[in-house]
Amino acid sequence: MNVSEAVVKRQSIRAFKPDPVPPDILKKILETALRTPSSGNSQPCEYAVVSGAKLEDVKAAVLAAATQMPKLDIPIPMNYPEPWRSRYGDMMHGVQEKLGITREDKQKRADWNLWGMKLWGAPSCIYVLIDKNFYNAGEIPNSLNIFDCGLVTQTVMLLAVEHGLGSLPAIVPVLYPDVLRRVLGLPDNKLFVVGIPVGYPDWDHPVTKFRSAREPLEKVAKFY
Ligand SMILES: Cc1cc2nc3c(=O)[nH]c(=O)nc-3n(C[C@H](O)[C@H](O)[C@H](O)COP(=O)(O)O)c2cc1C
Repeated sequence: MNVSEAVVKRQSIRAFKPDPVPPDILKKILETALRTPSSGNSQPCEYAVVSGAKLEDVKAAVLAAATQMPKLDIPIPMNYPEPWRSRYGDMMHGVQEKLGITREDKQKRADWNLWGMKLWGAPSCIYVLIDKNFYNAGEIPNSLNIFDCGLVTQTVMLLAVEHGLGSLPAIVPVLYPDVLRRVLGLPDNKLFVVGIPVGYPDWDHPVTKFRSAREPLEKVAKFY
């Protein structure tokens, strides 16, 4: 598989088979992903790779906390004016359509949110972390280094495709970072940026049939 194929083939997977991912594959993916560039080669990203019984502990603890308001380590205000708002809305609508969830169907919506808390059935999750002592070293956060975490996330997801795996770059898994730190025994200075549930896609699930749209190239790029 070449890079272009992996880029096109990757899609957000929101339904996984329970089959475990061999630990050596996860290790190989991360080891290769460490070649991802970072600003100043600062290599700010750290990883918590969680599978098996530990991941079940995480899911249970997060579910128990889900009645409280989420508090992300890296806040995302999500103030989306147009046209960005519509792109988000179209994607949400497309996902819900595949799931047969209507605007009025509160129960199905709640069930779907719960499914997200359970990491969409993924048997493993790679949490991407950044150290607070680095991120908040000055008056203004080193926010460019969150970009570094994004780069490495995409590398992980492309390598996952190469191994026949699916993934999802997701904020939902890191909504309750205090819970994650407690269950994983991590100190307060380890900040959760994003979670990447990883596993074998359940292609029979209707949601995996959804493919998100993209704006045409002419609309977003100028060639000089
Ligand atoms: C930083 C980031 C956070 C995201 N968080 C979530 C999430 O919490 N839940 C979710 O279902 N999708 C999440 N997504 C997935 C996006 O909705 C998805 O990437 C986008 O719709 C494009 O679809 P594609 O990944 O299938 O190409 C996130 C994506 C990114 C890059």
